[in-house]
Amino acid sequence: MDSKDLISLEDLAEPLTYPVEAFISRDYAKAERDLLWPKIWQMAGRVEEIPNIGDYITYDIGDDSVIVIRAADDEIKSYHNVCPHRGRRLIDPPEGEIHASGNTRRFVCGFHGWSYDTDGNNVHILDRDDWKGALTSEMTCLTPVKVDTWGGWIYVNLDDDCDQTLREFLEPAAGILDPFEFENMRYKWRQWCIFDCNWKTAIEAFMEPYHVAGTHSQLLKYGDYYAYSEAHGDHGVSGFDQRKSATQTKEGTTVTRAGNGADPRASTYEMQREIYESVNCASTTETLVNAAKRLVDELPEGTPAQEVMEHWLRRAREDDAARGVSWPNVSQEQMSKAGLAWSLFPNQTILQGLTFALCYRVRPWGDDPNKCIFESYAIERFPEGEEPNPDWVYAEPTKEKWGLVLSQDFSNMAAVQRGMHSRGFRGTLPNPHQERKVTNFHRVLARYMKAGYPRLIK
Ligand code: FES
Ligand SMILES: [Fe+2]
Repeated sequence: MDSKDLISLEDLAEPLTYPVEAFISRDYAKAERDLLWPKIWQMAGRVEEIPNIGDYITYDIGDDSVIVIRAADDEIKSYHNVCPHRGRRLIDPPEGEIHASGNTRRFVCGFHGWSYDTDGNNVHILDRDDWKGALTSEMTCLTPVKVDTWGGWIYVNLDDDCDQTLREFLEPAAGILDPFEFENMRYKWRQWCIFDCNWKTAIEAFMEPYHVAGTHSQLLKYGDYYAYSEAHGDHGVSGFDQRKSATQTKEGTTVTRAGNGADPRASTYEMQREIYESVNCASTTETLVNAAKRLVDELPEGTPAQEVMEHWLRRAREDDAARGVSWPNVSQEQMSKAGLAWSLFPNQTILQGLTFALCYRVRPWGDDPNKCIFESYAIERFPEGEEPNPDWVYAEPTKEKWGLVLSQDFSNMAAVQRGMHSRGFRGTLPNPHQERKVTNFHRVLARYMKAGYPRLIK
């Protein structure tokens, strides 16, 4: 590929297409295991999962598995999850699970009992003298993995030679999102399931609100879901927008906005209630729903939408303060810039509010291009000592387990994947204004994969 053929950030505003090999080719899926996953910072979990010394989790990606452990109060370490003796995986997840966690000061290999402390040092080898003094500590310790944190998330990087820091990798997204203080949020719930689609098919379903009208038509009664979609370096954000280009200004809010309708007091509550009920108690909070419910009593009829919105958020902030939950101070300008939902390359999505976030992570399933692991979780600010601390739960992708909205998203997954295999599919035609996060994702992915470059249609 000639550098003149590469798509620039400016080109993303133009009609373009990207090839479907990235979704349907097994060779491409295999190549990702060498060219993508071992070359990037990727989110392995959250700091709150390992609060105490010795707490650990595992994170699997492709053929690799890593252990992330709290080695000291102020130190998180990570190791490849493999025993240096003859290569047994050191920690197995429970039968039927994909996540392992626990607490230990000593990892003991289940094969021949070699043992390791939390710093990865080998502390026991049966009959060590049999090696006639040949074994050094460098040969027998666990292999370290780069690890760092941002926003309460733990990231690992399997590339020993990577000279990019986590912060550099996440910018400019990290700087724009810092004011939300995600590190002060805690898990509300976390669920996972398997989809019959490529991991990119799944994560892209959450990159653009362009699908709201077609997939979640029940939400249209509350407002216009016209969206902007912007690339910020390797990452992207989308948010609400005005449809007429003459007045195309971004709205200065996240998903927390006043409802559309004759009486914004009533519609704001209706919208909040419906989101809470149909997005699995996420994407808003009980505090926001309850404060919205009181709007008709607290405000006179005819109060303009903007005033309704300000009153509602002020009261919700007070309600939270009364129960020991403080809101971060995020300026209107910061809110506007932060938009509605972020995609951090390659597989992390954050739909944020001041006191909550709904998040997704998707991972490939072996080298099967038609299957992936989908994980979703809600984080929220809780009063100290009242954090629910949920574990991962496998949940069939049904309305009962995930709520109506997510089940509607899920209903597209396998169907999109099957459609991309069709010999009648002429190629993707993403929306240049509302699906730019998707095309930016392919622009960046192609850079790692050295294949699959988006190109201009004209
Ligand atoms: S493979 Fe771990 S002790 Fe032998
Ligand atoms: Fe959706």
